[in-house]
Amino acid sequence: MEIKKKTSFVLFYLCWFLSWVAKGFDLAQKPRITLNAEDEIPFFRKYSLGGHHSRVELLQGPSNSTVYVGVDGELILIDFKAHKRTQIALKYNVTLLHRHPKAQSLLVCGTNGEPLCSTVSMDVMNSSAPVSAKGIAPFGVDEQAPSLFIEDELYTTANYEKSGGRIGIRRWNVGLMGGIWSNQENTHDLRYVALAWSGPREDQLQDKVYAFVLEKNRDASWAAELWIPLVTQICKMDRGGPKNCLQKSWTSHLRARLSCGVPDRKLYFSRLVDVTILHAERWNESRVYALFNDGWNMSAVCIYTLGDIDRVFATSSFKGLSGQVPDPRPGMCVTDSTKLPRDVLKMMMERLEMEEWVKPVGDRPLIISRHQYTHIEADSVMAVDGTQHRVLFLALEDGRIHKVLEAMGRFFIIAELKLFQQKTVIHNMLLQNETKKLYVSNSTEVLEVDLHACKNYGTQCEDCIQARDPYCGWDTALMTCTAASSGTIQDVKHGHFRSCRGLAQSSALHASPLVTEVPLKAAHFLNCPMRSGHAKYNWYYNDHPQGCVHTEKDCLLLIKTMGPEHDGKYECKASEGGYEKTVSLAQLRTAGKAAGLAPPLAGAVCLLSCFTFFL
Ligand SMILES: *[C@@H]1O[C@H](CO)[C@@H](O)[C@H](O)[C@H]1NC(C)=O
Ligand SMILES: *[C@@H]1O[C@H](CO)[C@@H](O)[C@H](O)[C@H]1NC(C)=O
Ligand SMILES: *[C@@H]1O[C@H](CO)[C@@H](O)[C@H](O)[C@H]1NC(C)=O
Ligand SMILES: *[C@@H]1O[C@H](CO)[C@@H](O)[C@H](O)[C@H]1NC(C)=O
Ligand SMILES: *[C@@H]1O[C@H](CO)[C@@H](O)[C@H](O)[C@H]1NC(C)=O
Ligand SMILES: *[C@@H]1O[C@H](CO)[C@@H](O)[C@H](O)[C@H]1NC(C)=O
Ligand SMILES: *[C@@H]1O[C@H](CO)[C@@H](O)[C@H](O)[C@H]1NC(C)=O
Repeated sequence: MEIKKKTSFVLFYLCWFLSWVAKGFDLAQKPRITLNAEDEIPFFRKYSLGGHHSRVELLQGPSNSTVYVGVDGELILIDFKAHKRTQIALKYNVTLLHRHPKAQSLLVCGTNGEPLCSTVSMDVMNSSAPVSAKGIAPFGVDEQAPSLFIEDELYTTANYEKSGGRIGIRRWNVGLMGGIWSNQENTHDLRYVALAWSGPREDQLQDKVYAFVLEKNRDASWAAELWIPLVTQICKMDRGGPKNCLQKSWTSHLRARLSCGVPDRKLYFSRLVDVTILHAERWNESRVYALFNDGWNMSAVCIYTLGDIDRVFATSSFKGLSGQVPDPRPGMCVTDSTKLPRDVLKMMMERLEMEEWVKPVGDRPLIISRHQYTHIEADSVMAVDGTQHRVLFLALEDGRIHKVLEAMGRFFIIAELKLFQQKTVIHNMLLQNETKKLYVSNSTEVLEVDLHACKNYGTQCEDCIQARDPYCGWDTALMTCTAASSGTIQDVKHGHFRSCRGLAQSSALHASPLVTEVPLKAAHFLNCPMRSGHAKYNWYYNDHPQGCVHTEKDCLLLIKTMGPEHDGKYECKASEGGYEKTVSLAQLRTAGKAAGLAPPLAGAVCLLSCFTFFL
């Protein structure tokens, strides 16, 4: 009985695991197209930083195709178009880089053991003498401490106790002369991941700053998650409490758990890795894209709206708090926080947490992936028909990037960008939404990726439409896949080739290929490149399907010993979403004389046969 139970238990989990694995291998997980650094049509430019840097900070430059790069001992302005750089030497290694929202200058901070900041004029790139920046910038060059510059206030975070004492969020006025503001979180290990501003709202009093953080779980049992993902709020108008009660501290600080998982599959993601915010016209519709991983090589992306986050803080009950909620409600933004009633202030000292968790849009992750993603960026792209599409850029731990379409609660990996020839660690990504450029850096280079590189999808209308890339459309007059505009056609929603019907096409493959002579008894193989990871490829001999041997990039037809029975026409077809097209054509003829197998070819065939066996 006991054994039976155990066996069925094991079987159940085996089945569950297998079905899960099978599900995981669906097409959505596979990039449709792979773009390589060596491709004929270049889609990015690169610039060497000269030397190896411990950290690379990126900031949008003053004009198109320019980017500020803060590295060890230098601030560099790279102009990708002119292929030139301007740089200034700094006495520290850069950890923080902001444009002053109201001036033509940059705030540049870093560390040389001690944190320092300087002001750099944008146009002439000269720097003021650095000033001490304890509490603004981290002490260590590898410390992540997100910050946010809104209007004339700078919000900074500190993750470690050594960063000038407390852990928490601070606010500084322009000139960095203002008072220090911190919250009461000096007891727990926290990791700030990102800051976001929910504004400007119609009622500016209600403008808030949200922080996305990981907190070390106080429950240290083996079954408990090590880290807990949270969102916290503070009011932008918070002026701290009166004397002796939260003076110079936040009086509006609340916390709520972020939920990201699929409860019926017992999948929960808690390790928040990166966050990016896509601002919408209405502040409450702005979307927070949160990237999680689980330590088991799985990643998830959950989306939260600022509206949902706001609603949890405004309406949920408070954890561990029974009885009457005082008025004004704790955490509500008020005109003068120094005049808050004592009972409210007292409650605010208790690290108030909401009972309700913030749930993701659609109640589940947008993406659950077997890939270990490390960075996320998002863009909103206006399609030809006026609808907004959202595209994500997800960096993988080996330096690849996935360009992902978010459509109707599902995702579609448009392309895998292989920007680096070898495995590398991506240090940073920056999306420049006005010019549609993505900047990517490793420790020695910065790359500018052109998101309008549409020609790489192929030369036919169907190639362009099936790509489902909202940045791209088929130009019916020029007959090319090009940056989407009113003169182009697209079908981002379905990628249906029907949109191409009746259009003039660029010249297709030659109907009658050149005849290749193959010596009698020689081995030969025909190659068919598999451009689309979502298509089925097949070789046909005189219209009879032959299948093929798949390598990473090709569908090969092997002929072990050539003979007259192999003479004839060969055609490789790709079929995707009901659309079939010829990719390769060949015509073989046996040459008169017998020939032995050429050793290298024999080797290749043997290798390929082994490959077939394993597949
Ligand atoms: C700054 O960068 C240089 C060069 O990479 C390195 O040798 C130095 O240790 C760094 N300083 C700090 C404080 O991290
Ligand atoms: C830039 O350099 C000029 C001349 O050296 C100097 O007068 C000016 O104050 C500098 N600007 C800043 C922001 O330091
Ligand atoms: C995760 O992936 C890496 C490299 O792809 C591998 O070395 C490691 O063993 C994997 N870990 C788990 C827990 O599967
Ligand atoms: C945002 O607010 C508007 C009006 O206040 C409301 O109609 C809309 O449903 C809200 N959207 C979200 C996502 O909360
Ligand atoms: C950064 O990428 C370039 C390729 O573009 C590569 O040559 C270099 O080795 C990489 N650096 C590191 C530290 O991996
Ligand atoms: C680019 O992003 C900024 C900040 O999120 C936003 O204000 C602006 O409207 C965006 N521009 C475009 C063209 O999407
Ligand atoms: C910069 O890029 C934008 C958007 O692509 C374009 O409208 C503008 O003309 C460009 N400006 C210059 C100076 O090239």
